Order: sequence, then C-alpha cells, then structure tokens
Amino acid sequence: MVGSPGSLPRNYRAVVIGADGGIGGALCELVRQDCRLGEIVELSRRNGVDIANEESVASCARQLGDKPIHLLICATGILSVEGKAPEKSLRQLDPNVMMAQFLTNAVGPALVAKHFLPRLDRRARSIAAFLSARVGSIGDNRLGGWISYRSAKAALNQIVRTASIEVARTHPKALVVSIHPGTVRTRLSEPYAMGHPTVSPAEAAASIMTAVDSMAPERTGSFVAYDGSTIIW
Ligand SMILES: NC(=O)c1ccc[n+]([C@@H]2O[C@H](COP(=O)([O-])OP(=O)(O)OC[C@H]3O[C@@H](n4cnc5c(N)ncnc54)[C@H](OP(=O)(O)O)[C@@H]3O)[C@@H](O)[C@H]2O)c1
Repeated sequence: MVGSPGSLPRNYRAVVIGADGGIGGALCELVRQDCRLGEIVELSRRNGVDIANEESVASCARQLGDKPIHLLICATGILSVEGKAPEKSLRQLDPNVMMAQFLTNAVGPALVAKHFLPRLDRRARSIAAFLSARVGSIGDNRLGGWISYRSAKAALNQIVRTASIEVARTHPKALVVSIHPGTVRTRLSEPYAMGHPTVSPAEAAASIMTAVDSMAPERTGSFVAYDGSTIIW
C-alpha cells in the first residue's frame, strides 16, 4: 500500500474508530505510512469515543468539521463480555450478555454509520469498512455456538448493507462494506485461536487495506473477507 497508486485521492482524510485495538492499531500504523495520506484521525475510548453512547459518537463526528472523509474504518468489537466466554450452547445464553453483544457489535457501529457516513466525500472515491466476522454468516454456520456474537455480527452485516444503499444515493463513488479480518492474534481472539491458523495484526491490516482499496464501488454493501472474496450472508 505504501506508495501504491490505489483508489484513494491524494491527501485523503482517514478516520479509524477503535484505534487502540489490535487490528485498529495496525491499520492506523499502515495508513500513517501511506504516501497518499493527508490526515488521519485516530479515535478510541481512551481519547473520547464510546460507540455505545450516541452523544459521544455524535460529538466526535462534529469535531471533525466540514472537511470530508475518504477512509472510515470501524475496528471496534467484543467477543467475550465481562470475562465470560462466548456461549457453547443455548443453555448458556444470558440476556444481559446478548444485549451487551448487540450494543457493541451492532448498535455501536450503526451509530458510527449514522454520524460518520454522511461525512464521506460526495465527489471523490471513499471507503468505509466495518470490521465484522465470518461467524456472522448465516449460510456458513455449520458449527453452532457463539450465538450472541454470531447474531450481533449478522445484524451488523444487515446494518452495513442497509446503510450502503442509502449512501449510494448521495455518494455514488463510495464503497461501504463489512469485512472479516481472518483469525488475527489480538487480545480478542487470544483465548479462542488455538488450533486455527492465525495472522499478525500487521498482516491482517495489509490484507484489509489491499482488498478495500482495490474494490470497485459496485461492490458496496458486500460482506467480504480480508482477501476480497465475498462471504455468503
Ligand atoms: N481478532 C480476530 O481474530 C477477529 C476475527 C474476526 C473478527 N474480528 C473483529 O475485528 C474487530 C477488531 O477486533 P480485534 O481483534 O482488533 O480486537 P481488540 O484488540 O480487542 O480491539 C477491539 C477494540 O474495540 C474497542 N471497543 C470495544 N467496545 C468499544 C466501545 N463501546 N467504544 C469504543 N471502542 C470500543 C476496544 O476498545 P478498548 O481498548 O477501549 O477496550 C478495542 O480497542 C472486532 O469487530 C472483531 O469482532 C476479529
């Protein structure tokens, strides 16, 4: 990506939400090295954005001013809630845990979409990528388990798809997608990654950026993997 022609305009403006996370942090580092970059705004809970709180999301969006955004990445998310591992069976379903999953993994990104997507550039190419998970695919679900995380990510995919249709009416060059990053060695996946092939956050960030940077606006509203392939809903 460094020095690559890519699809983003020269001096583009990037906003990363969840900049303190494993994947979010690696994405920030990668984008900072991009010679096309004009400005990057790195938002995290530490510097004032709580995606579960609308006023916090709205106020961060307002502080960006009128200058349009060309790259928006929402890299927030949770897998376990208050130290509780994701459910293995229906017996373990806890409504409070499920609501927390939906709040962080679906409602929060919906608030990000509401307040940040209208700020994408209307004239130039822009990209908005929301970090989802392959386990949010209904068609690909053969193992069961993790019912709260899976269903919250499925809801996120529908939110992103719905938002993309609305955005396309005013921003014909925009690409708005849900993206699965692979199994990445971060705090979130650490207890569950055993036995799975994993990649580093830097490798995941590079794949994600290469994939979205080369995707045509016609693919807006897709659910994709880090290699750009489409994932079944
Ligand atoms: N790692 C994987 O293997 C994997 C696989 C599939 C999908 N994903 C998805 O990729 C995304 C990033 O995950 P990651 O592996 O990078 O995990 P991570 O290192 O735990 O990062 C997640 C980030 O989300 C932030 N966050 C959580 N709730 C928030 C809130 N209410 N407001 C603002 N920020 C909030 C956390 O902030 P704090 O630092 O303040 O807690 C943290 O920085 C998630 O959506 C995850 O579901 C990851």
